[in-house]
Order: sequence, then C-alpha cells, then structure tokens
Amino acid sequence: MGVDASAASAAPASGSLPALGLGSLLLIVVSVTLLWLRRKPAGQAVPKVVKVERIAAAQPEEEDHRKRLAVFFGTQTGTAEGFAKAVAEEARARYGDAVAVDVIDLDEYAADDDEYADKLPREAHALFFTATYGDGEPTDNAARFMKWIAELSEGEEDASRELLAKVQYGIFGLGNRQYENFNSVAKQLDKVMASLGAIRILRTGFGDDDACIEDDFAAWKESLWPALDPLLSSSDQDLSTSAVPYNAGIPEYRVRIHSADEATPAAEPELAAIPGAGHDIHKPVRGVVALQRELHAAGSDRSCVHLEFEVPGRALSYEAGDHVGVFAENSDEVVGEAAQLLGVALDTVFSLESDAGHHASLPEPFPCPISVRVALARYTDLLSSPKKAALLALAEHAASAQEAERLRHLAGPRGKDEYAEWVVAAQRSLLEVLAAFPSARPPLGVFFAAVAPRLQPRYYSISSSPALHPSRIHVTCAVVQEPTPTGRVHHGVASSWMKRAIPSLSSVLPGPGHASWAPIFVRSSSFKLPRDPLTPVVMVGPGTGLAPFRGFLQERHARIQKGEKLGPALLFYGCRHRDKDYLYKEELDAFVASGALNGLHVAVSREGPTKVYVQHLMQQQATSVWNVLASSKKGGANGVLYVCGDAKHMAKDVHRALHQIVQQQECCGGTEAEEFVKQLQSEGRYHRDVW
Ligand SMILES: Cc1cc2nc3c(=O)[nH]c(=O)nc-3n(C[C@H](O)[C@H](O)[C@H](O)COP(=O)(O)OP(=O)(O)OC[C@H]3O[C@@H](n4cnc5c(N)ncnc54)[C@H](O)[C@@H]3O)c2cc1C
Ligand SMILES: NC(=O)c1ccc[n+]([C@@H]2O[C@H](COP(=O)([O-])OP(=O)(O)OC[C@H]3O[C@@H](n4cnc5c(N)ncnc54)[C@H](OP(=O)(O)O)[C@@H]3O)[C@@H](O)[C@H]2O)c1
Ligand SMILES: Cc1cc2nc3c(=O)[nH]c(=O)nc-3n(C[C@H](O)[C@H](O)[C@H](O)COP(=O)(O)O)c2cc1C
Repeated sequence: MGVDASAASAAPASGSLPALGLGSLLLIVVSVTLLWLRRKPAGQAVPKVVKVERIAAAQPEEEDHRKRLAVFFGTQTGTAEGFAKAVAEEARARYGDAVAVDVIDLDEYAADDDEYADKLPREAHALFFTATYGDGEPTDNAARFMKWIAELSEGEEDASRELLAKVQYGIFGLGNRQYENFNSVAKQLDKVMASLGAIRILRTGFGDDDACIEDDFAAWKESLWPALDPLLSSSDQDLSTSAVPYNAGIPEYRVRIHSADEATPAAEPELAAIPGAGHDIHKPVRGVVALQRELHAAGSDRSCVHLEFEVPGRALSYEAGDHVGVFAENSDEVVGEAAQLLGVALDTVFSLESDAGHHASLPEPFPCPISVRVALARYTDLLSSPKKAALLALAEHAASAQEAERLRHLAGPRGKDEYAEWVVAAQRSLLEVLAAFPSARPPLGVFFAAVAPRLQPRYYSISSSPALHPSRIHVTCAVVQEPTPTGRVHHGVASSWMKRAIPSLSSVLPGPGHASWAPIFVRSSSFKLPRDPLTPVVMVGPGTGLAPFRGFLQERHARIQKGEKLGPALLFYGCRHRDKDYLYKEELDAFVASGALNGLHVAVSREGPTKVYVQHLMQQQATSVWNVLASSKKGGANGVLYVCGDAKHMAKDVHRALHQIVQQQECCGGTEAEEFVKQLQSEGRYHRDVW
C-alpha cells in the first residue's frame, strides 16, 4: 500500500459533502431506490424489474422440484462472473419462480473430484462462462474442475462416455485473440462435455476482449434464449415480452456516512501472519517493501524496478517459479482527480451495505467504514476503460439530457462502432470519460456498485529463490508508462506503485507509516526446475521474462554451494542495449562463474543494423538446444525448455523458432516437428510462463 494508508483512512473529515447534499456528519442512509425507475426518460420502454435473491453456493436441490439452471463461471478478474450473473438475472426475470437459477463458482461447487462426479451429471441445464489465461490455461477457480473433467474424458471406462448424458449445456468463453491459445479453455470444455455425452444446446461463444467482449456476449445471448425457452419455460408462461429487450437495473449499495472518527482501518492483512496459514487471494498477507532499486542505467528512457517484499516469520512460503499477487494502490494524483470528478471530499468516511435480496451483479462491499481516499486508492479501478454497463449507470445520473443520451448511445447497439473507437481504441480511462460528461455524477453507492470495477491484484513471476531468500519475495517489474491516443500517459497502476514504493531502510521491519507495503499472496505454478537436478535445462526469457530464471539460478547456486551435482543450464536473454537495460548483468556473470549457469546468450536488439532476438540466438545454437531437448533415444538429454515473458509476440516467435530447430535438426517436416513439440509439452518438458 501507499505510505501509511491506514492513517489516511483515520484522518479527520474536512469540509462538507456537497455531492451527497449532506450538511452534517450525521448518520445518513442513502435510499436504495433504483434510480433507473426514478429517472426513466420519457418514452423509454419500462424495463422488467427484478428483485433477485442472494446467490448461494448451489447444488442440485433434491427437494426442490422446480427446473434448475446452473450458471458456472471460471474467472480471474471478474468478467466471466459478471456475465454469469447477468444471464442468471435475465433468466430469473424470464422464467420467474418456475426455474431455480444459481450462479456457481466452479471451485466452490465441489470439494473434491467425487463431489464433481456426483453433482454435475444431475445438472439438467448448465451454462459455463470460462476465461482462458497464461499458456491457454484455466483460471485458478476453474483449474480443479477442468483437470477433473479432462481426466474423466480421457479415461477408458465406458461409463464415462454417458456420464453427462442428461446435461444440456451452453458455453461462453472469454479470451483475447492476441494470445496464441485463443479461448482454449472454452474449446476444451466443449470437447470434453460432448465426449462425456452432454448435449450442447447452442453454439459456443468465443468472447474476444481485444475488441468488445460485451458485444460478443450480447450476440451469444441472442441465441441463448431461443435455445433455453423450450427447455425451461412452462406452458402457461408468456414469453412474448422477450421481444422487449431485457434491461437489468443498475446495482447500487446503500451508503452510510460516518463521522470521521468512526473510520477504522479497513481489515488490514495481519503484519505477523501465522506461518503456513495458507494465504491466498482472499487472505493476503502484508508484504513490506524492504528494498527497491532501478535496474535500468541512467540513460534508459524506460524503467524496470527490482523490489523485495519482506514477509515476517516465513508467513508466506514459496518456491522458485511461483507467482506473487500484489494488491497495489492508485496514486494520490489519480485518487485526487477521481474525488474531484465525483465531487466528494477525500476524508469522507462511509460504509457500503447490500441487502440479502440485493441485485445479482452487486459484488460484496469492501471492508468498511472506509474513507473515500482509501476506497478509491485501494479498491477502485479508475484507469481502465469503462464497460458499457458503466456508461448506462452514468447515463442514469447525468443531469444533462444530452449527455445521458450520448452515454446511452455509446452503450447501445447503434453506438457500437463509436464505443469501439471513442472508448476502446482511444484507451479512454474511466476518469477521462467522467471528465467528458461533467453532469454525470453518480452517488457513491452507484459509483462503487455499477461504474468502477474493483481494482484487481497484479501477478509477478517471483525472481528469487527461498534457498537464498526464505522471508523475501523478489519482483522484477517493467514500469508501464504508455502514451494513449488521447494524449494521456497511462501510468500502470501496480508498476508505478512499485516505482514509487518507499523501502524500509534496514532489514528490521519499520513501524507503520514508514515503508510502503501491499497485501500480497503467493500463487503456486507448475513452472518449476526439474525434480532431477541432473536434467539439463534451456531457459528463454528476454526483458522481464528473466524474472523466474533469476529464481532458478539462485536455487541452482544454492545447490552448488551444498555440493550437489547439477545438469547443464543454458539461458537466452534479450535486451535493447547492453549498457542500459541489461537486467542483473553482474548477477548473471556471477552465476556463470559459479557454474549455476553454463551458457549465457544475450540478444541485443538495438545496437546493430538489424534486430537480434533470443530466437535468433537459439537458432544459432540449434545443436546445443537440440542436444538438451531431444529424447535419450535420439542421443539427446531429455531436458526441459522454459520460456517466460511477453505472450503476444515473443513467446509465439520462440515457439515457431523451436519448430524450425526441430525440423532442421531432425531433418523432418512440419507435421513431425509439431508432433515433437506437442510431445515435449505433454511430457512436461516445455513450460511457458507468459503474460
Ligand atoms: C502470471 C503473470 C506473471 C507476470 N510477471 C511479470 C513480471 O515478472 N514482471 C513484470 O513486469 N510484469 C509481469 N506481469 C505483468 C503484470 O502482472 C502487470 O500486468 C504489469 O506490471 C502491468 O500492471 P500495471 O498495473 O502497472 O499496469 P496497468 O495499469 O494494468 O496497465 C497495463 C496495460 O494495460 C493496458 N491498459 C489498460 N488500461 C489502460 C488504459 N486505460 N490506458 C492505457 N492503457 C491501458 C496497457 O496496455 C498497459 O500496458 C505478469 C503477469 C502475469 C499474468
Ligand atoms: N501486459 C503488461 O502488463 C505488460 C507488462 C510489462 C511488459 N509488457 C510487454 O511485454 C513486452 C516485454 O516487456 P519487457 O519490458 O519485459 O521487455 P523489453 O525490454 O520490452 O524487451 C526485451 C527484449 O525483447 C525484444 N523483443 C521484442 N519483441 C520480441 C519478439 N517478438 N521476440 C523476441 N524478442 C523480442 C526487445 O526488442 P525490441 O524492443 O528492440 O524490439 C528487447 O530486446 C513488451 O512488449 C511490453 O510492452 C506488458
Ligand atoms: C495475463 C493474461 C493472459 C491471458 N491469456 C489468454 C490466453 O492464453 N488465451 C485467451 O484467449 N485469452 C487470454 N487472456 C484474455 C482473458 O481471457 C480475457 O481478458 C478475459 O476476458 C478475462 O476474463 P475474467 O475477467 O473473467 O478473468 C489473457 C489475459 C491476461 C491478462
């Protein structure tokens, strides 16, 4: 967190609260009346009003004889969950009490494989919203389910073939076409569901968030209802209203304003956490910045930060190759601008509350009471482009009819191209959009519920090994500073926070208010050194892709110190200029000297007449690479290849280069090379940690 965030939340309130129309700091309850009902512009069709029940972790209800629709989601940053909730809400409005609709986190659905096997076959109607991440992998909350169902479909047993014969399903995948494995989780799920006898009721949707994923979702939804109606509607139900587009209400929290001294520091992660307590995204621990330094030389026009989080008492265990999740904060400037645009004082202390019967898409409130300053800094995504639903919420609170109309147009089907251009392509942040519509001033309860999404944690490949740093987690972070088409410079939220972070001056933990800290957690990964230390490895990691390999090399160094024998390790690293952005040069040289690294190949891209990239050096070293990767039957060493860093360009190009190396070394065609690479992957000898 920023320096002394808790002090900020406890600071006395100053000034009045003009935007809320409050003259005093008396406890005030802001009504939950849905404003879209209150402010409906004349001539607009009345949207269906839906009061939805709080969503519970669901299971097929034995005693509930209603039809049931299970809406599953696999999400990392909430989009899939949002779509799942939106569909559930619409289904409840459409089918009423005749159908029990549940929104279900795939991880929470079952405690183990047996429970999945027991419950899923009894779901007569199931919808899946699943995002793809990393190297075509499922989200954390879908990983266990996907592993179970994939293994089941690969099983030999005939019984499995018909296991899901009673399940009728639909899938909407969330992905991004820029990644090599576009929507691979949705594709795989579709395949395995079908192989287990389940019946697909509509074409699988492939959302692309490189364009406008909300439009993809809307298009898929159009074919969803005709597919579901015959299955779920009762004969006496009138679905003629389906011609009127369903309009979800705008979610809103109830807001209580407190006196300034009521602000308690909002549920801070414990400083002295219990060792082995299993910290995760829901239970982060306080990581104090012990060290921070710039890795680029003075002449560089970019910045890459080395940062060390101190976690006392070994509360957070990790392995080289794991990721650390960091909840960073927005800068004071961004927070100040947001408060100004919203017309609220930073020191206002408030609580958010949601009723048991709250709106389906309303997320749990963040810990309250809280000051506006801390809520905006810690919990609010202010710099991403607003979703269409946010524009609709803003429209409801625009005093100017013209602005309201423009916002609705941008969010509606006729404004599709303008939204794509004016919001997405222009990378307009939420703050820029708020500034462009000065009359649109949502109250806090609407702003946090419907306009600004939650700030998500950022992940980093840990660049240290516990063998050398048992209580510290190192991060190697490229600072994002990108000019956008509107002339704004986008300062990446987390990377800029790391750039600003104030380290504690000594290795002894400082008192509060001195060093920067952030809630952090470790996410384990399969990107690990081979179990057998004699297995040779090839590591490919230009730029910050070097991060996990620094951890690997520290691990190897520690083993060498203990007298262990290790297989050879080659590293292909890349930077623009040797004297500006060659990360950890001295350390890499020292690893070569100690024998932890046996071949260091550095591709410098901007010093010669043509670009030299890691894949070019791999091709130059094709024989050495092949000797490591080829199977022992072919005289190779059965070694392991690791690639880390940029997914959109580098990892794809390295993947292609690998095929070329195989073709050249094996004197084989493209198909055989592809086979070899697939085999390498299935044997766990080709790992990618790409983002
Ligand atoms: C598994 C994993 C491991 C990772 N490991 C590392 C690592 O070791 N080192 C490292 O440096 N990074 C790593 N990353 C990336 C890291 O998680 C962050 O994405 C990165 O630091 C940028 O975060 P940020 O908050 O600074 O930037 P953000 O504010 O999130 O912006 C990031 C990007 O989003 C785009 N963007 C989003 N909104 C806007 C907007 N409104 N205007 C303009 N652009 C916008 C831009 O393209 C920008 O570059 C990893 C990611 C993953 C998933
Ligand atoms: N999504 C995010 O949040 C995020 C965060 C950090 C970085 N990034 C992106 O990730 C990429 C890597 O960033 P970085 O700071 O770690 O490294 P970097 O310093 O930008 O790049 C390291 C080296 O890789 C080279 N390179 C560029 N394209 C390549 C390709 N297709 N194949 C192989 N090498 C290539 C670069 O050359 P040239 O530059 O000379 O072409 C440079 O020499 C950048 O595109 C950056 O924008 C994204
Ligand atoms: C680090 C990272 C890796 C990703 N990898 C893939 C990928 O391999 N394939 C793909 O189709 N989409 C990929 N995506 C895109 C996400 O699936 C997409 O943003 C999706 O909307 C996220 O949904 P969620 O908010 O529910 O997690 C990736 C996104 C990020 C941030």
